[in-house]
Amino acid sequence: MTKLLVVATSNPGKLREMQAYLADSGWELTLKPEELDVEETGETFVANACLKASEVAKATGNWAIADDSGLAVDALNGAPGVYSARYGQTDAERIARLLRELGDEVSRQAQFVCAVAVASPDGAIALQSEGVCRGEILTATRGDGGFGYDPIFYVPEKQLTFAQMTPEEKKSISHRGKALKALIPQLVAVLSFES
Ligand code: IMP
Repeated sequence: MTKLLVVATSNPGKLREMQAYLADSGWELTLKPEELDVEETGETFVANACLKASEVAKATGNWAIADDSGLAVDALNGAPGVYSARYGQTDAERIARLLRELGDEVSRQAQFVCAVAVASPDGAIALQSEGVCRGEILTATRGDGGFGYDPIFYVPEKQLTFAQMTPEEKKSISHRGKALKALIPQLVAVLSFES
């Protein structure tokens, strides 16, 4: 039996991505109602994911899943972190600001982080996971795939930026891919327990 899992986003692209990652989980994923907006007031990725999952579950009376992600640069003490999406108006502005703030710093290690939370219909957090992908910030963009900070995020083990990878390659090593993969057995277990 499938069960509805409301994704705490109004972005159809994010829904499609989650559907692809969780295709083997047995759950039927759907978008949250457009008018239901949850502000990301948390100070950590985990806090924001839990907040969004919990609010959407309570408001819809269904199980809900939410993620929160961003880029944390070591030499900037973890910035932009939870402010990754609010670091500028456009992807180009966000990248330009990050490169400006890093300047000619030689230590360019960084990590993408993704926290995922699943809440039961009463809003209680039932499952959580986190995925991390380490890499380096280049001094200029390379590649034109992906989105966000992808063109400046270089993964040494692949010798490619996220923007130079195929979606499959990125999925296999990305923060989001790792966080969602870790959740599949737990989602399967909840489904068998619930039905
Ligand atoms: P949110 O998780 O939808 O709140 O978005 C977090 C922000 O972090 C995005 O708007 C991007 O700027 C950045 N981000 C998160 N994941 C990625 C990624 O895989 N590639 C590039 N940028 C990302």
